Amino acid sequence: MDKLTGKVAIVTGASAGIGHAIAKRLAQEGAAVVVNYGKSADKAKAVVAEIEAKGGKALAMQADMSQVAAARRLVRDTVQRFARLDILVNNAAIALNKALVETTEQEFDEIFALNTKGPYFAMQEAANVIADGGRIVNISTGGTHLGLPGATAYLGTKAALEQFTKGLAHELASRGVTVNTVSPGFTDTAMLWDSFRETAAQMTPLRRLGKPRDIADVVAFLVSDEARWLTGQTIQASGGVVM
Ligand SMILES: NC(=O)c1ccc[n+]([C@@H]2O[C@H](COP(=O)([O-])OP(=O)(O)OC[C@H]3O[C@@H](n4cnc5c(N)ncnc54)[C@H](OP(=O)(O)O)[C@@H]3O)[C@@H](O)[C@H]2O)c1
Repeated sequence: MDKLTGKVAIVTGASAGIGHAIAKRLAQEGAAVVVNYGKSADKAKAVVAEIEAKGGKALAMQADMSQVAAARRLVRDTVQRFARLDILVNNAAIALNKALVETTEQEFDEIFALNTKGPYFAMQEAANVIADGGRIVNISTGGTHLGLPGATAYLGTKAALEQFTKGLAHELASRGVTVNTVSPGFTDTAMLWDSFRETAAQMTPLRRLGKPRDIADVVAFLVSDEARWLTGQTIQASGGVVM
């Protein structure tokens, strides 16, 4: 459990849900983890305490990832604090369960700011400083393939992120930096609305909701040396949902 010893990782939106599980998993492998949060300082501090209690290294850092300046600052502050950056996981996002015809311009701008624009400029900032052999993982959703009804803007934000993955994978390949997407299926977090949980589990061939840890294990593989030959890919971590 020390595949990432000496590495420094940023996980955005790590105060809850899938990001929380990813932060814990990377710390378990020995990485020093920046636990980014937007609003939930107490939850982020609890994640750090949980990691430290198991002998890991972590630091909570606030940054509203919908703001380009804050996304850039998060990367810069990490490098200033830890003197390097090896792994960036763009996980922070919000959902919007609205059809295209119901979506306001403000809702459109808000969701694209956090799910798409923030990660883009976090990657731009990271590209300048990430160590050779580094890893970038973007968290999308299997919904971009499934085409879930009533989430048109949300799926658009994630489809763009998947394309950024492919583009940046080419740009950074000569330095051995890999860039991949993990697309969770229906996962048991606050983002999954209650009335849909039973249906979501039934739609999943493995017949349960995903657990945050199911996604974190896939991310842990992608950021390890064992995944050095994978880049520009979108991995469906979905319990087999046909997307
Ligand atoms: N759950 C699912 O079924 C599912 C399925 C497919 C894909 N996904 C994707 O998986 C990722 C994680 O989702 P989740 O289910 O774990 O969601 P979640 O439980 O709602 O957690 C979202 C996290 O994002 C953070 N966040 C929200 N706004 C932020 C901001 N402006 N700046 C920084 N952090 C912010 C939250 O922290 P604060 O409270 O501190 O702001 C929280 O830690 C997302 O990219 C989501 O699209 C989830």
